[in-house]
Amino acid sequence: MTSNEIFDLLSARSPADIESLRTQAYQVMVDHVGSEVYFRGLVEFSNECIFDCSYCGIRKSNTAVERYCLSKDEIIETALWCARQGYGSIVLQSGQQSNREFIELIVGGVQQIKQRSRSSVLPHGLGITLSVGEQSKETYRRFFDAGAHRYLLRVETTAKELFEKFHGPEKTLQRRVTCLETMKKTGFQVGTGVMIGLPGQTLNDLANDILFFKDIDADMIGMGPYLVHHETPMNGYRDEIAERKNEIFQLSLNMIAATRIALKDVNIAATTALQTIDQKGREMGLMYGANVIMPQATPRHVRNKYLLYDGKPCVDESAADCAACLEQRIAATGRAIAWNSWGDPCHFFTRTGNQD
Ligand code: 5AD
Repeated sequence: MTSNEIFDLLSARSPADIESLRTQAYQVMVDHVGSEVYFRGLVEFSNECIFDCSYCGIRKSNTAVERYCLSKDEIIETALWCARQGYGSIVLQSGQQSNREFIELIVGGVQQIKQRSRSSVLPHGLGITLSVGEQSKETYRRFFDAGAHRYLLRVETTAKELFEKFHGPEKTLQRRVTCLETMKKTGFQVGTGVMIGLPGQTLNDLANDILFFKDIDADMIGMGPYLVHHETPMNGYRDEIAERKNEIFQLSLNMIAATRIALKDVNIAATTALQTIDQKGREMGLMYGANVIMPQATPRHVRNKYLLYDGKPCVDESAADCAACLEQRIAATGRAIAWNSWGDPCHFFTRTGNQD
């Protein structure tokens, strides 16, 4: 697909155009990955971060945040809870660090989760996805060898000026891309994504983002609307973003649909950020071609400390409540949940030639 074709898909505004985009995307999803929904229990195990991304509520300079890092045992217990729920896969996510202690926590945690989550329904243990930022080639290798087999690293935006504006000099687009390539070479199933509705971001930028996902041959995509966090330098955009709320929400859904149409056999997540704008945001994401949902599994005593943006839902619910609520929401879309399944992206097997 060309950038112009993707641009046209993203431009859908009238109810008729939107519905035609949605049904096309839904059909592509059914044809290429089926209609089942895969769960990944989301464990936000630490909000400590060495970076200062200007959109993010847990940026290093935000001194109002109480920092935490779960112990290895807590991480393992939470993962095993997910296995007992039938989630099949988990995502371990945190702010970014690269010190020895942090790396060892992840390596040790992953090894033990793999061992201890094996059961008759999960003979190879939980599927483990890491979302812990830019790391060295050696570290990626250690994570992979420990048993993690997927890695998420959003590129955030592929528009160079925007990337630089929101990250400052300490992060570069080139390094993100290099990390994604290294992760792929290491053997990971690789996920990336962007934020939608960033101030100054154009439809053309978003069309190019989708072309980037295709170029880098991503297996998984996670995208959501940009939402303001009041303790960030971007709080000044609050009114502008509030005014554009409906537009950004629809644009986020159009991005999911256009990505499904362009990439076909990848996994696409209906992210929590969608639900922050609209109560039914995640279900809507599923209707536009997403096939993955990440139920909140972070222990409740730290959950309100992992706030990347204002208005995050499910902060006060228990993990069990979140599970029940999501099940109902998905049932309402008429889709079946694939329990006790890794739900690997079909694209990974096509791209690598592995059987599975
Ligand atoms: N609004 C929406 N998404 C955000 N993220 C970080 N901060 C925000 C925000 N203010 C997203 C980034 C990151 C992911 C973990 O959360 O895309 O990669």
